[in-house]
Amino acid sequence: MTFLFSLEQQYLRWFKADFKCCLFLSASLFIYPGYGQPVSVQTHYRNGMVVCATPQAAQVGLDILKKGGNAVDAAVAVQFALAVTLPEAGNIGGGGFMAYRSAKGENSTLDFREKAPAKASMNMYLDASGNVVPNMSLATHQASGVPGSVDGMVEAHKKYGKLKWADLIQPAIDLAHNGFKVSRRLAASLTRAGDQFKKLNPGKSYLIKDGGWKEGDLLIQGDLAKTLGLIRDKGRDGFYSGIVAEQLAEEMNNGSGLITKTDLQNYHSIWRKPIIGNYKGYRIITMPPPSSGGIALMQLLHSVEKYPLARWGFNCDSAVQLIVEAERRVYADRSKYMGDPDFYKVPVDSLLRPAYTASRMANFNWNAATPSTSIQPGSFAGYESDQTTHYSIVDREGNAVAITTTLNDSFGSKIFVKGAGFLLNNEMDDFSAKPGVPNMYGLLGGTANSIQPGKRMLSAMTPTIIEKSGKLFMIVGTPGGSTIITSVFQTILNVIEFGQDMQQAVTSKRFHHQWLPDDVQIEKDAFDPKTRSILQQKGYKIADHGPSGRVDAILKTKDGYEGGADPRGDDTKMGW
Ligand code: GLY
Repeated sequence: MTFLFSLEQQYLRWFKADFKCCLFLSASLFIYPGYGQPVSVQTHYRNGMVVCATPQAAQVGLDILKKGGNAVDAAVAVQFALAVTLPEAGNIGGGGFMAYRSAKGENSTLDFREKAPAKASMNMYLDASGNVVPNMSLATHQASGVPGSVDGMVEAHKKYGKLKWADLIQPAIDLAHNGFKVSRRLAASLTRAGDQFKKLNPGKSYLIKDGGWKEGDLLIQGDLAKTLGLIRDKGRDGFYSGIVAEQLAEEMNNGSGLITKTDLQNYHSIWRKPIIGNYKGYRIITMPPPSSGGIALMQLLHSVEKYPLARWGFNCDSAVQLIVEAERRVYADRSKYMGDPDFYKVPVDSLLRPAYTASRMANFNWNAATPSTSIQPGSFAGYESDQTTHYSIVDREGNAVAITTTLNDSFGSKIFVKGAGFLLNNEMDDFSAKPGVPNMYGLLGGTANSIQPGKRMLSAMTPTIIEKSGKLFMIVGTPGGSTIITSVFQTILNVIEFGQDMQQAVTSKRFHHQWLPDDVQIEKDAFDPKTRSILQQKGYKIADHGPSGRVDAILKTKDGYEGGADPRGDDTKMGW
């Protein structure tokens, strides 16, 4: 009886929410044309698609597909092209994750995340009083983890590639050697970082231009072209041993860094079993730890599954409230339970149990925001500055690749390896330097994500592939530091629940809650004034933020592949 009563109350509330949301959405579309769902006109392709952060890299990927390369071949070529054309995040000095689904349905994930050097230690960023030394994990030689990107590409190509390795690297070498015209966005970003480049790289001139960069300037990277040439000719050995390894070790010696030639030789990426879950009949294939993304994404989807989001509508107060409350609880769990599975037993099954998610949402109160101080990680028996980048690729056969790769902060540590022409990551900041002290994304962590030699730092990167009825449905992912998970989550809901096409789903305004700080971070105009006011009356602190993430995604429709390239960056979609 109590159950029936509460069910009736729930449906009554849903009905009211439906009515209210529809009214506000129609009104808001009329009165505030900037709100609501963006308009989009889609082009569909039958033979394959590449969606990534720069037009040059998208063209490289498309050319490889047209030459008969598969999605992994195109991904390898795009990764190296991004290392040249997106110096903020595209990289050979960082790491990342890949989710893969073959046309036949085989799936796998590849972890090429950076690792702590052998000389790293738990308290390496603390001073004599036990306080975290500001910026030490961000802008010093000690901020870098052992890079994984080159090994990751070698491994992906070894397992799935079709075209010759050298042919996949050559387009990047050409871009570095001949140069390319910088976009307005890249010119601004390089100019902004100029003073720091100078300060951190005395005597080096990479990416520095007196007077600043202008749109259309030619960026030539000769040392990077040489390094890429070694990788083209020697594969893994072109980076992890020989001249480049020596240059990297010398750079470390000169800056009191920790990475040694032995660390480089010992680095290996790992094939991991994907996190696989279901949401309303859609099969989600996503990244396991050391990413927190896959588990958190599934927890979020489970938390909202039983509610009629589609009827409530996009960014209505009820939908926003539910999503925020789910995000608050899931990020609390992330702070305690997630870390490198090779060092810490992540309770994956427990975190993904539907009964557990239900118990976490049990104290959700429709009348008032749940204060984050009253939420702790659950119990049962580790942005952008968001410089990570994501690309989604599908080939003619239907093989799909989702890769998210990162230097962490914009241009990583902003330290170049002298003579080798590439930037080092500052991924060590993704570890928890000290329990209770937030990292650059405001994320908290504890033992699970403490620093240990050889351990991988926790990530939020969430490259994801979705199937519907046993067939490829979506390829999605994004940069964005702590907002990665919530951006992927909301993009999926935008398509599955709110009926948006792929470009609309990517363009739509996003919001984010990560438990602490206890505020709802929103992109400009994400909520119409009425929705904002309702949420504020219920106690939600709404904080206006800049653009969140750069989602690049592909959707398979009956008309062919359609892409969503994020207008927040120079992101580009190309197909054939
Ligand atoms: N460096 C951002 C992440 O891996 O989540």
